[in-house]
Amino acid sequence: MVGALACSDADDGAGDRDPLAVRGERVYLNVCVACHHGDPAEVGSVGPAIAGSSRELLEAKVVRGEYPPGYTPKRETAAMPPQAYLADQIDALEAYLAEAAETDATP
Ligand code: HEC
Repeated sequence: MVGALACSDADDGAGDRDPLAVRGERVYLNVCVACHHGDPAEVGSVGPAIAGSSRELLEAKVVRGEYPPGYTPKRETAAMPPQAYLADQIDALEAYLAEAAETDATP
């Protein structure tokens, strides 16, 4: 009976993290780190810090290469190519970037 307490998803190393954020992290580490920092709260080699980005911003910028109406971009360049194939990963990216923003708040 004691064994029943074993964590069933321990094999993915995710602990008690939100599975959506874990998926978003995979996408981030595969795609976004080419330009953004490995820690989304820091400025990357090419791209700005993006921890805490809203879903609206991510959808506009990542999928369409645009910004939401009224949003003031961190940079005036347009160096980031839109990546429309990531349209179904926006929720995951948002979850991961929200988590990254929270982690950053801890000293
Ligand atoms: C080819 C390099 C490159 C890649 C890959 C890249 N970005 Fe960017 N990103 C940039 C640059 C540079 C900017 C600054 C604006 C510009 O020049 O387009 C930016 C800006 C952004 C912004 C707007 C920040 C703000 O508040 O103004 C978001 C959000 C963003 N990136 C998210 C992502 C995500 C999520 C991914 C991965 C799916 C990603 N980027 C992949 C280079 C990149």
